[in-house]
Amino acid sequence: MIYKRSSELFAEAQKVIPGGVNSPVRAFKAVGGEPVFIERAEGAYLYDEDGNKLIDYINSWGPLILGHAHKPVLDAVIEKAKKGTSFGTPTEIETRIAELAVKMVPNIDKIRMVNSGTEACMSAVRLARGFTGKEKIIKFAGCYHGHSDSFLIQAGSGAVTFGTPNSPGVTQGTAKDTLLAKYNDLENVKELVEANNDEIACIIIEPVAGNMGCIPPAEGFLEGLREICDETGILLVFDEVMTGFRLAPGGVQERAGVKADIICFGKVIGGGLPVGAFAARNEIMDYLAPVGPVYQAGTLSGNPLAMAAGLAMLTELDNKREIFESIEKKTEYLHKGMDKVLTQNNVDFTINREGSMISVHFGKEPVTDFDSAAKSANLGLFNKFFHGMLENGIYIAPSAFETWFLSDALSYEDLDKTIAAVDKVTKDF
Ligand SMILES: Cc1ncc(COP(=O)(O)O)c(C=O)c1O
Repeated sequence: MIYKRSSELFAEAQKVIPGGVNSPVRAFKAVGGEPVFIERAEGAYLYDEDGNKLIDYINSWGPLILGHAHKPVLDAVIEKAKKGTSFGTPTEIETRIAELAVKMVPNIDKIRMVNSGTEACMSAVRLARGFTGKEKIIKFAGCYHGHSDSFLIQAGSGAVTFGTPNSPGVTQGTAKDTLLAKYNDLENVKELVEANNDEIACIIIEPVAGNMGCIPPAEGFLEGLREICDETGILLVFDEVMTGFRLAPGGVQERAGVKADIICFGKVIGGGLPVGAFAARNEIMDYLAPVGPVYQAGTLSGNPLAMAAGLAMLTELDNKREIFESIEKKTEYLHKGMDKVLTQNNVDFTINREGSMISVHFGKEPVTDFDSAAKSANLGLFNKFFHGMLENGIYIAPSAFETWFLSDALSYEDLDKTIAAVDKVTKDF
């Protein structure tokens, strides 16, 4: 494939944008080479600036569960835009999307809209701290909750005591309030809770992890966290930015049958526009300003265009619940197909899958937490795989630690093409 125009655009971008991108992973640094600049997209396909057509397994990192330029979503945004783009006042559509979200998601009474998943998680933790009067939080190594300071804490063995910042700019003061636990390790969580007796506001978790590849929770893990929280008064925060409205209409709470105290959303809830949200039962949500003392605000929060996209998306998902089964079947088909060709080609691999999230790891051992994901991340092989797939018209995430997100716009023919590409690319691994 030719990437002449993409390359020119990247050179121009680097002069005026740090690294040429507005979010680091887009720069292809992990896999080498230069990013592909996209000109337009429709359904399951991206069309780049050089006229190449790519089958998309990123879907804007998750939001586009029904594919690109989905007509009901586009129409809703266009119609709304004709009436003005932002008012900074309450609008009816904010209530309508809130009503629908409250109907679809178990165990929430109220929801507050923000502009990104980062904001949702950051605000959820502030609310948990305000509500409980405690300062520390537990997060899991390898889980990503956006780029606010408390979450940019390195995975490491110092977990039982204090975390250490992994980004310059995050202060030691912030880091010491973030305790690190191992994903899928309840004993480790219990140790942390005991060692920080009565100081912990919340445990925040991706209930199906998607930021170290796709890692489903081990049996009983989420239930175990719920029990610990019930016994100690710690709030359980599910970061469902990836999983919300994707793995089930009601997210992992519905899929796993485990209730969280605060739930964070992003991605699908905005239908491809910048939206995040956090939600809980009345008792907790009424702790937020203007009713309660915990401050949280946003000039463009609940923006009418973003709400129109989100409402159209959630309405589609609510009305056509068969979508969830359809997309899960497609993901299973892809899983089985890749499994077959990778086995035939004698490649060491592990495939993890939950619903329409899937990841391929180039190692034989099970991938259940950050350490095992890192061990299986054969970066040399992954980079070869990534570029081989791209050369064959398949766009997967440019990092061994990312999940693939399927859209229901993918046809079985697209999936067959993808499996054939995996076969071709891994023949000489
Ligand atoms: C689980 C999870 N939480 C939070 C975020 C942050 O969302 P945003 O990038 O919209 O700020 C992400 C982003 O990928 C995510 O995957």
